[in-house]
Amino acid sequence: MLTNASWLLRFMVEPLNRKVCLAPMMDYTDRHFRYLMRLISKNMLLYTEMVHCGAVLHGNRYRLLQFDNFEIPLALQLGGNDPQALALAARIAQDCGYSEVNLNVGCPSDRVKSGQFGACLMATPGLVGDCIAAMQAAVDIPVTVKNRIGIDKHADYEFLYRFTKTVAGAGCKTFIVHARNAWLNGLSPKENRNIPPLEYEKVYRLKRDFPELEVVINGGISEYEQIEENLSKVDGVMIGRKAYGDPYYWKDIDNRYFGSEKVTISRQLFVKQYSTYIQSQSGNDVYLKHMVRHLLNLFNGQPGARAWRRFLSENMCKKNAGVEIVEQAMELMNLEKCA
Ligand SMILES: Cc1cc2nc3c(=O)[nH]c(=O)nc-3n(C[C@H](O)[C@H](O)[C@H](O)COP(=O)(O)O)c2cc1C
Repeated sequence: MLTNASWLLRFMVEPLNRKVCLAPMMDYTDRHFRYLMRLISKNMLLYTEMVHCGAVLHGNRYRLLQFDNFEIPLALQLGGNDPQALALAARIAQDCGYSEVNLNVGCPSDRVKSGQFGACLMATPGLVGDCIAAMQAAVDIPVTVKNRIGIDKHADYEFLYRFTKTVAGAGCKTFIVHARNAWLNGLSPKENRNIPPLEYEKVYRLKRDFPELEVVINGGISEYEQIEENLSKVDGVMIGRKAYGDPYYWKDIDNRYFGSEKVTISRQLFVKQYSTYIQSQSGNDVYLKHMVRHLLNLFNGQPGARAWRRFLSENMCKKNAGVEIVEQAMELMNLEKCA
């Protein structure tokens, strides 16, 4: 365990602050990347990749739910459509120490659609409400929803309004809204994150219509200025691809939005701390590449970024490679020229 009791206690006593959150991203926001983001921000709420509730109940629970206490505050995102199974999974998440459980009502993939969960659940708000009510009855931690603004031809604001009203009526107080429609036929998940236009205005309107709800906006947020603009209209923002694509950009989050003193972590210290983490994991059956891959974007947009990426990519899979490859990659960089 890397953290002390007072750190944990702080997040058990204070309400969760969702002003700036890290989005759930399958294959990206694994425990190693979350640790890396926690080195960048001590406060932003981190979300796991989606885990199906059936996997929590019947799969390798330790592997799926394992996290470091340093990651807290941490939300587990669940997929599923069975209220009882979701309730059991939520209970397990709470017992493991997660700070929140979130229900995925936004994933448009074929696999998810054929399992009748994810974004297609927006068509059955009553069922989503039943899931939320069952989960809430099983836990004391917050239960939240992440949804789209609509699906397929249901692209009008009334659809989003009715969905929210029904699910809020079942007890949900926090809605994280990806401000795009999802097309369940004809677009891949990747296309569904780019092609349907962003419609922030619908999310702002939702907040105006439901001022008592906490509304967190998501989609296309890539600069501090956008955060500021959005925080004047909704309660929080969630950042996905720009967090993965350029994690170090967000080094001032705590100072800007969580009232912390301005102590910007240098790239050097950041890499040193993450290297210490990598070292602490060796011997735990963790592949080096699974941790080092999250460093590949660290110098994005800076001189030498390509050399950094190439060196790490070429070396992280080598049989006897260890954390020293990160030090060697750092030696290639001229830090004085980097912002
Ligand atoms: C690789 C990848 C995997 C994703 N996996 C999930 C997921 O497991 N659950 C989920 O709710 N959203 C998932 N998303 C969607 C993001 O959470 C977010 O809604 C979307 O990327 C839009 O935000 P952004 O423009 O800030 O990236 C994923 C996105 C990406 C890029």
